[in-house]
Amino acid sequence: MNSTKEQLMTAIAPEVEKIELAMRSDLAAASSDCDPLLAEVLNYGIFNGGKRLRPLLVLLAARLAATSDTADEKSQRELLLLAIAFEYLHGATLYHDDVIDQAATRRGKASVVQEFGEIAAILGGDFLHSRSMFLIGSIGGSMALEIFCHATNAMVDGEFLQLRNARNYNLNEADYFSAVQGKTALLIAATCEIGALVGGATAAEQKCLAGYGLGLGTAFQIVDDLLDYQGDEASTGKAVGNDFQEGKMTLPVILALNKAGSVDRERLLFLLKDEDLRKTGFAEASALIEKYDGFAASRKMAESIVAEAVSGLKIFAGEKAVQTVSVLRVLAEYVLLRNK
Ligand code: IPE
Ligand code: IPE
Ligand code: MG
Ligand code: MG
Repeated sequence: MNSTKEQLMTAIAPEVEKIELAMRSDLAAASSDCDPLLAEVLNYGIFNGGKRLRPLLVLLAARLAATSDTADEKSQRELLLLAIAFEYLHGATLYHDDVIDQAATRRGKASVVQEFGEIAAILGGDFLHSRSMFLIGSIGGSMALEIFCHATNAMVDGEFLQLRNARNYNLNEADYFSAVQGKTALLIAATCEIGALVGGATAAEQKCLAGYGLGLGTAFQIVDDLLDYQGDEASTGKAVGNDFQEGKMTLPVILALNKAGSVDRERLLFLLKDEDLRKTGFAEASALIEKYDGFAASRKMAESIVAEAVSGLKIFAGEKAVQTVSVLRVLAEYVLLRNK
């Protein structure tokens, strides 16, 4: 784990630094005439240790697609603005997601909704969403905006599907994967696709990078759902057990229910359905999921999705691509091993 993580952190540190600086100056300019509380809500929710996975993917995809190493300063600056647009959209979804999921903690401190209330969380998220669309449209053009809006619509739809799923205890794997694709994976696919588009990729390269992002994003959400049971709050920065408390039918639960005998199956379902037991039954539910290999089987699925995503990158075979493909491969390994 450590060597994978260290290798990755060294490779991406300069990009992450550029992303942080670009967001600092862009948000300061974009909110300079705004109400001071709005600026506070934006700074509070954005500059607090996010992994910056999505903007990083934009930069890596663009680098992989580029035909020369000598992009001028203006196009580099524009690419960075395009990249941070994805972090703004992601931030907006987190502001709103914590309202929807009633989550009190995010990135190791009180969530925006917990700290500033629902109105500020909703409006702050709207501001970030609108800034992200402005940047994508003005820099990436109509094609990029179309991909971006398609992913955003899918995310909203995925959250609706998840709401519907939360009351459906006969959920199957396909239902889970549809929700995950919408709420998480398509946005991650869009980071790669738009990075590729702006970097000058061919249609085939663009499609290939979108496929990598879709697999990476799907595995990313499976691991997020595992961390909701098995993570350490000090590392993830968010409460463990929140999905169970919300009655979410995530992959470990679905796979365990598929395998459990009828008595354990009924018990696990009862724990998930009963509003009081959801508050007290976390350890018992975790033990039942473990008994039927729900965690290990979910991890196996994430591993095979990542392996497929990485193998799709083999079309980038040239010497110039070697280093970036290797970063994308290590990033995919990190997604499986991550603890935050
Ligand atoms: C959390 O995303 C939301 C999901 C889609 C699972 P991240 O795990 O990328 O969150 P930050 O940005 O690093 O906090
Ligand atoms: C997040 O899913 C998907 C979004 C659209 C933000 P989760 O609800 O599992 O994300 P966390 O665990 O709160 O970060
Ligand atoms: Mg949530
Ligand atoms: Mg989660």
